[in-house]
Amino acid sequence: MIIGVPRERKTLEKRVALTPDGAHQLVEHGHRVLIEENAGLGADFSNDAFHEAGAEIVSTLKDVWTKAELVVKVKEPHETEYEFFRPGLALFDYLHLASMPDVTKAMLDGGMTGIAYELVQLADGRLPLLEPMSEVAGKLSVLNGSFYLLSQNEGRGVLLGGAVGVPRSNVTIIGAGTSGRAACEMAFGMGAHVTVLDVNTAKLEALKFDFSNQITTAYSTPAAIRRILQTTDLLIGAVLVPGAAAPRIITRDMIKEMPKGSAFVDISIDQGGCAETIRATSLEDPVYIEEGVLHYGVCNMPAQTARTSTMALTSATLPYITQLADTGIQEALLKYPLLRNALNTHKGKLTNQAVSDAVGVEYTSIDAALG
Ligand SMILES: NC(=O)c1ccc[n+]([C@@H]2O[C@H](COP(=O)([O-])OP(=O)(O)OC[C@H]3O[C@@H](n4cnc5c(N)ncnc54)[C@H](O)[C@@H]3O)[C@@H](O)[C@H]2O)c1
Repeated sequence: MIIGVPRERKTLEKRVALTPDGAHQLVEHGHRVLIEENAGLGADFSNDAFHEAGAEIVSTLKDVWTKAELVVKVKEPHETEYEFFRPGLALFDYLHLASMPDVTKAMLDGGMTGIAYELVQLADGRLPLLEPMSEVAGKLSVLNGSFYLLSQNEGRGVLLGGAVGVPRSNVTIIGAGTSGRAACEMAFGMGAHVTVLDVNTAKLEALKFDFSNQITTAYSTPAAIRRILQTTDLLIGAVLVPGAAAPRIITRDMIKEMPKGSAFVDISIDQGGCAETIRATSLEDPVYIEEGVLHYGVCNMPAQTARTSTMALTSATLPYITQLADTGIQEALLKYPLLRNALNTHKGKLTNQAVSDAVGVEYTSIDAALG
């Protein structure tokens, strides 16, 4: 199979979908790997490194998209890529279509097969292709948030760990999944007082145990969120309902009652965000102030650590890319339930119920779409 890897077009997105080691494995399996020139530079993987791994360097975006049978990417397709969509071409990528009606329409109009990294789900409910980036985003949420709490950034001017004779700051994390746990690890390590809320008490229990009872946990209800936010310095949104738009559990009124100059990093912005006041921002211009609170809504936070993120991502995606390439797209979708259940679009049909509900396009079952 011919596998194409375009350079990412999103603002300041420096990750690439494959490392040279990943490309090498696919070449060893008998596939051709086309890498757009300079696609890996932002993650410090040179064209030479890909060439030595057996990949072919192609000079234009068009070359990648028109020659490939399977395109692997990091972020959702850019509008300059829509013209290459066609039936028989598959895209394996973080799609997040529930919050991307334009991308959804373009993929359906083009008849593309779209398989979403974030919907590959193991029998125990884990999301193995979301986990590595969620871990990175969780850790970065505390680093980014603590930066915006600094006085010169119009923040409250508080240090997460406090100082001798000065109390620790309060970090509140909503969602005790992968990104919430990573944020907890970072905030706890920086000496903050951490409170984690979730609707899944088993996850809260595990977290409390792992942090030797030195964090606070709370069941996530509107009343608990409102009360805790009144004394929160750094709020982190880390909720997910797989495939669906993020639940809007934080109201404008709750944000209004937070201390002035506190910061809110909404990791779940890629699914639309979990607060009434949040909107997507970019790495170029990441923050805005609403109701006196600094809001950070970057959808591609792991791009800030492009090398670490590219290596972590490839480790997770490579087994699935290999399955798709070795087996063939249609056959792999029929044979492997994990890939089949992550199918979002196929031959003009939308095959995910949650995405259908979010974007208002008719749903077709995966079995019917695959024929
Ligand atoms: N912005 C970025 O750059 C970036 C990077 C990676 C991941 N993400 C996103 O971060 C989000 C979280 O990902 P994750 O891997 O941590 O998910 P996860 O499934 O591991 O955890 C989500 C948690 O949210 C909880 N939850 C659901 N509804 C809730 C509610 N009403 N109140 C409290 N908790 C609730 C779930 O029980 C679960 O524990 C996803 O949208 C993911 O796509 C964003």
